[in-house]
Amino acid sequence: DLTTTIGDFHFDNTVMNGAGVWCFDRDELSAVDSSAAATFVTKTATLQARQGNPEPRMAATSLGSINSMGLPNKGLDYYLGVLAEFENTHPDKPYFLSTTGTDPDDFGRLFTKIAQSNFHGLVELNLSCPNVVGKPQIAYDFGAVERILTQVTGIYHGALGVKLPPYFDLVHFQEIAAVLNKFPLVFVNTINSVGNGLVIKDETAAIAPKGGLGGIGGGYIKPMALANVRTLRQLLNPSIRIIGTGGVQNGRDVFELILCGADMVGVATQLGKEGPKVFARLTQELNDLMDEKGYRRLSDFRGNLQVP
Ligand code: DHB
Repeated sequence: DLTTTIGDFHFDNTVMNGAGVWCFDRDELSAVDSSAAATFVTKTATLQARQGNPEPRMAATSLGSINSMGLPNKGLDYYLGVLAEFENTHPDKPYFLSTTGTDPDDFGRLFTKIAQSNFHGLVELNLSCPNVVGKPQIAYDFGAVERILTQVTGIYHGALGVKLPPYFDLVHFQEIAAVLNKFPLVFVNTINSVGNGLVIKDETAAIAPKGGLGGIGGGYIKPMALANVRTLRQLLNPSIRIIGTGGVQNGRDVFELILCGADMVGVATQLGKEGPKVFARLTQELNDLMDEKGYRRLSDFRGNLQVP
C-alpha cells in the first residue's frame, strides 16, 4: 500500500515527476499520467510563454545532470487548458500546476488567473529557479518569500505549496521554516537543483548559458535532498506535507526520502534518463524493500530515521 495524502488530496502511489522533466506539453504530461506515477506536475508556467536559454542547456552525466533551461514553457494559459482536460477525464485524480513570476508584479496576476480558472488541484509555487539570467533564486531571500506569500495567499485560497532550493546552513533552515510556518501552505517540495554547478567534458563546459553554470541534479544531490527533507520535517508545521525530490535513482532512494519524512517523492534526472517507465520500476523496488522489512504502509516508517 503506497497511498499517500497531501492536504485533502489522496494519491494511489508515492512517486511523481519533478517539475521541469517530462512535463512541457500535453503529450509529455499524458505519458506521465498514464504511467505508474501518482500524478504529475507541469513545467513551471510563467504569465507568457518563454523560449528559455540558448542550447545546449541540459546535459546528463553518469552521476546526474546539469541544466540551465531558463524556464522555457508554453505559458500559464496553456497549462490551465491542459489541466482542465485532465481534470475532466480523471475527476478524482489531483494534479499539480507549477508556476512562478520573473517579475515582482507577476505573482498577483498569475494567482488571480489561477483563482479565476477551473483548476482545483495543487499549485506548486517555484521559488527556486536558478537559471533565469540576472534573477536570483527567490527562496534565498527570506524577506522576498514573505512578501510574495503574503500577496499570493491574499488572492489564492486553493491548495498551495512551494518548491524550495537546497539550504546548507542550519540558521537558514530555521529562517525559511519560520517564514513558511506563517502561511496556510499544504506542502513544501524540497529540493530543487543545486544551483550554479559546472560540468566539463574534455575542455569544454557541458552547457552554454551562464558561462557553463547550471543547476545540478541526480545522484550528486541525494545527501542534500535527504538533509533538507529531514530538517524541514522537524521545523515545519506538522500540517505541511513534504514532497522530497533529489537524487532518486532506485527504490531504496525513495525509501530513504520517506524515512526522512517525505509524503511524496519527486523524480527528475532519472525520469529524463529512463522515461516514464521509471515509475513502475521505482514502485516495484520500493514494494520489494518494504516486503523485506515487513512494512505494509508508508506510515510504518515515514520519518522514522534512526540516528546512532
Ligand atoms: C528551471 C530550472 C529549475 O531548476 C527550476 O526550478 C525552474 C526552471 C529552468 O531553467 O527552466
